[in-house]
Amino acid sequence: MIRSNGFKKINIAIFISGNGSNLKSLIKFSLKKNSRFIINLVISDNLKAKGLIYAKKYKIKKRIINYKNIKIAENKILFYLKKNNIQLICLAGFMKILTKNFIKKFGGKILNIHPSLLPKYKGLNTHQRVIQNKDKFSGCTVHYVNSKLDSGKIILQKKIKIFKHDNSVKLSKRILKQEHILYPKALRKVLINL
Ligand code: GRF
Repeated sequence: MIRSNGFKKINIAIFISGNGSNLKSLIKFSLKKNSRFIINLVISDNLKAKGLIYAKKYKIKKRIINYKNIKIAENKILFYLKKNNIQLICLAGFMKILTKNFIKKFGGKILNIHPSLLPKYKGLNTHQRVIQNKDKFSGCTVHYVNSKLDSGKIILQKKIKIFKHDNSVKLSKRILKQEHILYPKALRKVLINL
């Protein structure tokens, strides 16, 4: 699609596995005046991902990928990405790890959001680990995806304070709210430099 001022919008695919609250916030952002991107495709490895309702609501094409065989799954995804001219991928709670081969073959940029202040707490159960360790701060990070888990170059981070009576549920809710602000901001930063 061409914007009224002549700029071409970037085509984006969002990958999800679950609730899709980040997908929702990115869709809302994409619909704003002057947004530099369109979400053309939602990929999910999980047929029951709640977030798929947002694809339906906003009439975005969705594809459910069976991950029993990762090679077949990734080839299918690459096919859909090409078919829809996708230039950039945003992982938003996608629970599968993309292979080196996939990252190389896609060739475009891939972003991820992680609920910790990377490089601290890569992987799962970040909030529990942060609470157990009695950290004073936590937060979220948007970063580029490379072949090592949660290790690509950091684009933006938001730091938040941990309160005395916090637990992992309270903390995850507070951080998730910040994620919804941080991801569109990071995307804007990336797109300005494209
Ligand atoms: C978020 O906390 C994100 O940082 C992590 O998975 C969660 C996804 O939440 N990677 P949602 O599906 O976007 O609500």
